[in-house]
Amino acid sequence: MGITSLCLMLSTLVIHPNRSQFFSYDSITLTCGAAGSPGGWTLKRNTSTHASQLCDSDWGVSNGSSCVIEDVYASDSGVYWCESELGECSNSVNVTVTGGAVILEIPALPVTEGDEVTLLCSNKEGQSREATFFKDGVSIGTGPAGNVSFLKVSKSDEGFYHCELPTEGKSPQSWLAVKAGGAEPPPLMPVPRLVCAVLLVVLHVVIFIVCVNIHRKIVQHLRDS
Ligand SMILES: *[C@@H]1O[C@H](CO)[C@@H](O)[C@H](O)[C@H]1NC(C)=O
Ligand SMILES: *[C@@H]1O[C@H](CO)[C@@H](O)[C@H](O)[C@H]1NC(C)=O
Ligand SMILES: *[C@@H]1O[C@H](CO)[C@@H](O)[C@H](O)[C@H]1NC(C)=O
Ligand SMILES: *[C@@H]1O[C@H](CO)[C@@H](O)[C@H](O)[C@H]1NC(C)=O
Repeated sequence: MGITSLCLMLSTLVIHPNRSQFFSYDSITLTCGAAGSPGGWTLKRNTSTHASQLCDSDWGVSNGSSCVIEDVYASDSGVYWCESELGECSNSVNVTVTGGAVILEIPALPVTEGDEVTLLCSNKEGQSREATFFKDGVSIGTGPAGNVSFLKVSKSDEGFYHCELPTEGKSPQSWLAVKAGGAEPPPLMPVPRLVCAVLLVVLHVVIFIVCVNIHRKIVQHLRDS
């Protein structure tokens, strides 16, 4: 039935620190924030080995509306999102954890057109040194201080990025998402009204199914007798 897979974007997942790439043993806090409705949101993730894994299984610890991963490992790489019991969802966030020596510090959350965005190429010591940056596999230049900035980021900057440090090697690649600026997104339907609407639809479907079944049984009964 379609109703259980209905996935409305009613919550916001925030990641701290806001980046897509992490070294092993870094700590990540993921927070579900719902518009209007407190609590009731569960953090889930898909990794290469597990689907729809809950925070409190064996990898994260819940703290209020947050899920804290104290020491991340490569196996924590995946896509994270928040979900309610009704199947409503948040935005999703990609996380890549590397056992390697280099990460690209790139925002995990979409940036807004016109924003200034800085990408930083880091080694484990967090030193800044000359780095080469790549978009969709093609070099976009070298940053003498290990960073590159988009003064006004635009939709055409969207893509897969990675970086390379001369002696330490390459970072994994991550997607930079750019969302349209200017107009605010349309306001969401207030949650109580939405819950009402969903419940009404469910009620109608249930009544319909019950009626069809009763009708079938009556027809069967008439046939049998
Ligand atoms: C998580 O995995 C399930 C099952 O493979 C899939 O249906 C779902 O779309 C995935 N969710 C995300 C956010 O990628
Ligand atoms: C839970 O969050 C509070 C404040 O947000 C913080 O002070 C506390 O240390 C956190 N506890 C754990 C176990 O992370
Ligand atoms: C996550 O990564 C996939 C590709 O691996 C990309 O298509 C998707 O847009 C990314 N999601 C976000 C929220 O950046
Ligand atoms: C980025 O590099 C410039 C020099 O090119 C430097 O002034 C700036 O502090 C660097 N920013 C960060 C965040 O490292």
